Amino acid sequence: MSTSDSHEDAAAPDSGPRPRLTVIGTGYLGATHAVCMAELGFEVLAVDVDHSKIERLSAGEIPFFEPDLADLLRANLATGRLRFTTSFEEIAEFGDVHFVCVGTPQRPDGYGADLSHLNAAIERLAPLLTRPCLVVGKSTVPAGTAAGIARTLARLAPANAGADADIVSDLAGVQLAWNPEFLREGFAVADTLHPDRLVFGVASPAAEGALRAAFAPVIAQGVPVIVTDYATAELVKTAANSFLATKISFINAMAEVCEAVDADVLTLAEALSHDVRIGGNFLRPGVGFGGGCLPKDIRAFQARADELGVGVALRFLREIDEINNRRRDRVVDLVAAALDGTLARRRLLVLGAAFKPNSDDVRDSPALAVADLLARTGADVTVVDPVATPNARRALPGVTYSETVEDVAADADAVVLLTEWRQFAELDPARLGQLVRRKLIIDARHALDGDRWRQAGWVYLAPGRPTGVIPSPVPEQRPRFGLPAATGPDGAAARDAEIDAPVGRRS
Ligand code: UDX
Repeated sequence: MSTSDSHEDAAAPDSGPRPRLTVIGTGYLGATHAVCMAELGFEVLAVDVDHSKIERLSAGEIPFFEPDLADLLRANLATGRLRFTTSFEEIAEFGDVHFVCVGTPQRPDGYGADLSHLNAAIERLAPLLTRPCLVVGKSTVPAGTAAGIARTLARLAPANAGADADIVSDLAGVQLAWNPEFLREGFAVADTLHPDRLVFGVASPAAEGALRAAFAPVIAQGVPVIVTDYATAELVKTAANSFLATKISFINAMAEVCEAVDADVLTLAEALSHDVRIGGNFLRPGVGFGGGCLPKDIRAFQARADELGVGVALRFLREIDEINNRRRDRVVDLVAAALDGTLARRRLLVLGAAFKPNSDDVRDSPALAVADLLARTGADVTVVDPVATPNARRALPGVTYSETVEDVAADADAVVLLTEWRQFAELDPARLGQLVRRKLIIDARHALDGDRWRQAGWVYLAPGRPTGVIPSPVPEQRPRFGLPAATGPDGAAARDAEIDAPVGRRS
């Protein structure tokens, strides 16, 4: 691996000539990348096959929820630096560097990644590339994909006629680079304008030079640049997401153990976090990870490792996935146990549909998965989310939705917090207590101040946190719905006392 001080001669100062950029695919990644590159001063033309998306973006409207992005979109449309089109001919003519940002979702028939959008985009673009340029893949792909795309470009791009893409030493033809993206939803603008690293998978100094020119304003901030081959660049992304998923599942596995001995996973996580070798990031226990990246990326990584004959190396990721899914069941068990084992016809108020706060994304959302599980048991489920309701309605039509808590809290038998929106953390337990039938809250994200809720008369339960009851060490004696079993009559009484603590009735 080489780093930023390699290929010094290829480095382009921020003051050098600016390449014209295109972005192919205006989904979450592409729209953010296009807007942010224009914000950094580049001329950007973005393309999508979806006409309605292009119309909305051209009119200054972001088709999804992302803080700060709409303002930046409108500001950069106004400068004329940012434009949108549905014409691949136009972008092929316009661009010096083409960023490919199309989605690579999980295949419907297995764990592998669906590369059909990526292949379609390359096959449509390549025959139009009649002059030297750099094609840059940003999509998350299985290791080995970029090498295949480089061969496709070499075969189909007219600018490469007669040239061997592997030995082109300047941008005499069309070259490929791989530049994985690490942006987080909810922080996409900041992560794109100020990334913590840039990874350039390249096959020549010329490709590296073109990429450095395309990221010159970012590199000028002192952001580290890792220059490497295609396969390593592809792996950086899947390895990073696998590591993050592993950290989350590790602490959630600790929560399972905590539940068995009535210990406190939050205190455990805090104590671990002070060890600088471990750190506190991505060590928040709760209902686990979801979204459009972590779950599908760890599955695609396993599928690719199997294909490569090294499946055994990533076998642990199956366990990481299983721990993550068990958390969803665990929350359902906790709600059921707190309601005396019966969920049928209980009125449950679910707080959160998005896979995390500051997002309207419900892909593989733990919140929506738990809402679904609760509804399948026969519970009467109402889901509240400040922004994800339209997407949630489409993904899970069988439950009731609202954008505000007060409108739907009446007669709730339990409140279940599944996405840690600030609005939910700021709820007033005394006021909510006057609306619900039973003051029972399950805080599956550890977002609330449990003492404050208890003081307001609520039964406060959170996975991995003590219930005040030492459970039986014998698994067979555990109750059906996962609350720790009492050790004897005293323990049982203590648990029942907590579950049946004074409950509010609608005044
Ligand atoms: C992730 C990666 O962070 C990002 O680098 C990559 O480019 C895309 O995938 P994102 O999907 O936006 O980003 O969400 P992230 O903030 O990573 O959270 C993923 C999930 O893990 C969420 O459901 C979140 O609630 C959960 N999570 C996160 C935890 O349960 N505990 C934690 O400590 C952190």
